[in-house]
Amino acid sequence: MSYTLPHRNRRLRASSPNRGLQRETRLHPDQLIYPMFLCTGQQEQQKIDSLPGQYRWSIDLLPEICAENFKKGVRSINLFGNSSEKTPTGEGALDPDGLVPSAIRQLKQLLPDLNIQTDLALDPYTDHGHDGILMNGHVDNDATVEILQRMALIHAQAGVDWVAPSDMMDGRVGAIRHFLDINGHTKVCILAYTAKYASCFYGPFRGALDTAALSGGLSDKKTYQMDPANRREALREARYDIQEAADAIMVKPASHYLDVVMALKQNFDLPVAAYQVSGEFAMMHAAAEKGWIDLEKAMEESLLCIARAGADMILTYFAPQMAERLQNGPLS
Ligand code: PBG
Repeated sequence: MSYTLPHRNRRLRASSPNRGLQRETRLHPDQLIYPMFLCTGQQEQQKIDSLPGQYRWSIDLLPEICAENFKKGVRSINLFGNSSEKTPTGEGALDPDGLVPSAIRQLKQLLPDLNIQTDLALDPYTDHGHDGILMNGHVDNDATVEILQRMALIHAQAGVDWVAPSDMMDGRVGAIRHFLDINGHTKVCILAYTAKYASCFYGPFRGALDTAALSGGLSDKKTYQMDPANRREALREARYDIQEAADAIMVKPASHYLDVVMALKQNFDLPVAAYQVSGEFAMMHAAAEKGWIDLEKAMEESLLCIARAGADMILTYFAPQMAERLQNGPLS
């Protein structure tokens, strides 16, 4: 070359410590929330075919696995309900002795420091698979919100730390906040699924919960979950959720919606969460199984990029594995 280059950006990339020095985003196990599934019975650890390495746990086994993960640094979990008795109005969601409230009580007794979140939605309990009550072929907003309020209270009475409404009904954050507060549960946080998109990437999850195939005149969830084409609408959803006193706002799925994560981070001052959903997880596993990508690297890169976009907390099925990875020294 006939001239001296004035800038050599590669100097800072030349060694692992230099890359570490200029790294703009770091992951820590504190950011990770582990979604977990439940089943009835004793000593049951049921493999979930659509989510490699994930299980449905019977309640008696839950404390042990959570304690193991806690040691790795995973201090927060998100519990999903399940019920074999599905009904049109999802009464199973309101059983104080159902799987979720029982699991919360058991965990709080044995692992009081574990941070427990629960998913609030009716789809594990309805026979039509929707996240709400169907009336004349549409999901009735206000009737559904009333049930979610009662569901939140039952979880609060069992000792939950956070409730996470994932249903996308209008006004549910404020309604739940009000109902919890008048019943003395001012300390329970609300993680609002603020921008939950009508996504095909939830496919493997529906297998995990055995949710009913969608029926009842609606073939999808597009009348309540958001259109993947929209970002400004997410800002509007966030504004309402924040007015209704959400404690954190979430974008879901994560990887295909990083612009939305960033928009929420830049426009609001609440913690932002992102959910790396079942389809994102399953795709990486499937490609790795074929030998097309390295699973551990895909895990690291995908989670790092979700954090780079602005997520303060990340729900991910990789939580225990990523926490373990972070204990084993710096990323390269
Ligand atoms: C339902 C709910 C879904 C997920 C979390 N809560 C599925 C849906 O909306 O149909 C998806 C999670 C995942 O795919 O990992 N309320």
